[in-house]
Parts: sequence; structure tokens; C-alpha cells
Amino acid sequence: MRDIPSVEGSWPGRLVFRRGWARGEARPWSDSWPGSQVRVVRGNHQFLATVCEHLAGLDATPVHSPAIFASATPMWRRAGFEEYESLLVLERALHGGAQTSDERVRVVSEPPWDEIVSIDDAAFDGLWRMGRMGLEEALASTRKGVVLVAGPPGAIDGFAIVGAEHGYSYLQRLAVRPEARGRGLGTALVRAAMGWAARAGGHLMVLNTQHDALPARRLYARLGFTETGSLLRVMRWAGPY
Ligand SMILES: CC(C)(COP(=O)(O)OP(=O)(O)OC[C@H]1O[C@@H](n2cnc3c(N)ncnc32)[C@H](O)[C@@H]1OP(=O)(O)O)[C@@H](O)C(=O)NCCC(=O)NCCS
Repeated sequence: MRDIPSVEGSWPGRLVFRRGWARGEARPWSDSWPGSQVRVVRGNHQFLATVCEHLAGLDATPVHSPAIFASATPMWRRAGFEEYESLLVLERALHGGAQTSDERVRVVSEPPWDEIVSIDDAAFDGLWRMGRMGLEEALASTRKGVVLVAGPPGAIDGFAIVGAEHGYSYLQRLAVRPEARGRGLGTALVRAAMGWAARAGGHLMVLNTQHDALPARRLYARLGFTETGSLLRVMRWAGPY
């Protein structure tokens, strides 16, 4: 019999689990994909398994991990997770080569989240849709972060979320409305993101992408990104349901 963690919050919403020094967080995966995403801030596989059992009791299944590196997967496997999906990791050095600016792209201090979420929903399917909670989390996940948009206020056609921390920079998200593609907006957003990241102290930009996102992979290759050979994995708890 495992000790029960204390739980703050109510489902569907953000939950914080604590047991002694261990701490975990869960939230709905997105508005359009069932189940939850759980993060272990501190804790071991037993704590994680107990959190999953609690989530199963709330009908918050399937339980998924965030996208994690291979080195982090053993704890998840020991808690009963299996690999579910994977993402490619790409990178590009930022020193050298000025990034040209494009007047269609600008930084927004107050992101127009409704427009951003509607573009994200149109650009991604299923598991890969982040929803508002996921997008806001992506922006907040690094010490510095910014949203760039392409297009006039109230009628944006694309956005990028970029962050920087400890000399690294992360292109967290990139999407252009399907009907506005092929006009250079995606390219302009990535160039602007690289310019911002270099000014924020980033030496290397890292991003991930789906294996089958061929337009995105062409765009990144054209802009000098290369595959690192690492994969990020989304793990899924295999039960008991
Ligand atoms: C990836 C994505 C952002 C690209 O957006 P986009 O605005 O179409 O990008 P661009 O217009 O800069 O480039 C697309 C193509 O149009 C071409 N192009 C660029 N400017 C152009 C112009 N002015 N006229 C004609 N063609 C142009 C590019 O050369 C590119 O050709 P390629 O496919 O051979 O590389 C978009 O396809 C998307 O939202 N995809 C789904 C979400 C996704 O995969 N996001 C990234 C992974 S996290």
C-alpha cells in the first residue's frame, strides 16, 4: 500500500501532488485530446505511479509524460509508462550571420491568445495540438521568452514562441495558418526568432518537430538547422485503467 499524496486543485484543471519532498503537477493534455500530462518536479517512479493511479481515479486518462529525452525515460518506464510518440530534435548555432528583419513580423507584449490558439488548432492535429494552457506554459518555461506574430493586429497569420536560458534558445512553437503558407511568413518568423534569441544571449537554437512535418523540416533545413540524432519521447502510462 503506497502513501497517498496530497492534492491541490480540481480536475479538469491544474493539480499539484505532494508527498514529503516529492512534487508533481498534472493538467489536461489539451482541449481536443483526452487525458492528462504529468510532470515530476521532484520524486521517483513510485511517486509517479501513485500520481497516475490518482489521475485514473479522476478519469484523467490516458496519462502522458511531457516530451522528454531518452535519459529521463527509465523512471517513467519503471512507473509503468511506454513510449507513445517521438519527435526529432534539431539545432543551429546562432553566432555569425545577421538575421534580416521582415516588417510583417513583430514581438507582442500581450499575446493575442485566442488568435494564436486558433492558428495552432488549424496547424496541428491530435496529440500535437497544445491548446492555450500548453502554449502559455511553453512561453513561461524559460527565463526569457517572447511571442512573435506575423500579420496585422486582429488578423495575424502565424506566430512563433521562442525562449532563451543559460546560452541556449528554444523555438518552442511555430505555426502559420494553412491559407497563408508559401509566402515566406514561416521563414520570417524563424529568422526573427533567431535574431531575438541571439540578442537574448542564445548561442544555439534548439527545436523539435514531428517526423512527418515535411514542410517544417524543409524550412528548418533551408535555414541551417541540422538533426542532432536525439529524439524526444512522449510516454504514455499503460494502466491500470
Ligand atoms: C512549417 C510552416 C510554419 C511553414 O510556414 P510557411 O509560411 O508556409 O513557410 P514559408 O512560406 O516561409 O516556406 C514554405 C515554402 O514556401 C516557399 N516560399 C517562401 N517565400 C515565398 C514567397 N514569397 N513566394 C513563394 N514561395 C515562397 C519557401 O521556399 C518554402 O518552400 P519549401 O517548402 O520548398 O521549403 C507551416 O507549414 C506550418 O504551420 N506547418 C504546420 C505546423 C508545423 O509543422 N510547425 C513546425 C513544427 S513545430
